[in-house]
Amino acid sequence: MRVLAGTCETPPPVWLMRQAGRYLPEYRALRERTASFLELCFTPTLAAEVTLQPVRRFQFDAAILFSDILVVPLALGQPVTFEVGDGPRLDTDALWNLRDQVDHARLEPIYETIGRAKEALPSEVALLGFCGAPWTVATYMVAGRGTPDQAPARNLAYQNPQEFGRLIDRLVEASTEYLVRQLRAGVDAVQIFDTWAGSLPPTEFLRWCVDPVARIVNGVRTAMPGAAIIGFPRGAGTSLPAYVSQTGVTAVGLDWMINPAFASAQVPASIAVQGNLDPLVLRAGGAALDAAADEVMAAFARRPFIFNLGHGVLPDTPIVHVERMLARVRGR
Ligand code: CP3
Repeated sequence: MRVLAGTCETPPPVWLMRQAGRYLPEYRALRERTASFLELCFTPTLAAEVTLQPVRRFQFDAAILFSDILVVPLALGQPVTFEVGDGPRLDTDALWNLRDQVDHARLEPIYETIGRAKEALPSEVALLGFCGAPWTVATYMVAGRGTPDQAPARNLAYQNPQEFGRLIDRLVEASTEYLVRQLRAGVDAVQIFDTWAGSLPPTEFLRWCVDPVARIVNGVRTAMPGAAIIGFPRGAGTSLPAYVSQTGVTAVGLDWMINPAFASAQVPASIAVQGNLDPLVLRAGGAALDAAADEVMAAFARRPFIFNLGHGVLPDTPIVHVERMLARVRGR
């Protein structure tokens, strides 16, 4: 939280996107006892336990709420299921009969998870909430599943921008309310995941990534002045400076493809950066991991910086590699 407020800490605080999940044996054991991934997300005692697992094992400086970005479409009335080993499936027939507003009763267990996790965490560990950015969530809602190139949503945005804009507007409103409620329930900061930001050309990026996120940031801060918000526009590339200046985020998460010198020069010194170790080098381990971790640390040493990956932990990442990386970052 100090880094988000603009101070420079040595060593930097560290957490990892997707730090709770399948690479942890304790997660797999608990997951085996639940019928579905969504049941796990909507059972506060279990979701809170999974939120805490990586912090207990690795003493990360932040915990991230265990849930998923696709609970928002679910609460808007679009059925969502997760097929094991096959990713999410959404009912596209339901796309044009969504509720005007999210069903907050449906999301209530998530706020309860936050309360439980917050209570169990040591006071020096931050609790992060999150949502998906409207563009990324819409790519799943329109296609009904994950896609390699987000073509169904990009196509709809070109062919029927009014209709697509109404979907984005609904997601802006739902996500704003959802984040405000997470903050009221006890998260210290929130992250907005825009995993598929990189699939849009620059003009479309401003329209469908930057503008909706700017509206969410504004809306959240109207209800919760000073709220700390981390934006993660994966693949933003040379549009990163526009994203940072026009959304008003507190901090920006960097993917592993971006040039750190470019990011450091283009992001104002008052804005914290987070990232950006390649998840694959964490999985690979060895000398390559040491060198890559050192390189990330060196690139951002003189600015407010949170050590993280450039995207989520891969499910087959060895635990010893995470331990090795942490020792390296923390200088022991
Ligand atoms: O970071 C964390 O540890 C907190 C929990 C979290 C999950 N998903 C748990 C999860 C967070 C923050 C997310 C975000 C999320 N979900 C994103 C944005 C970040 C990213 O990774 O790109 C996206 C695009 C999703 C949608 C989603 N959820 C997909 C495409 C999948 C299937 C692919 C996969 O990794 O399995 C999920 C499922 C999912 N979300 C799992 C977990 C732990 C695996 C489900 C299982 O355990 O069976």
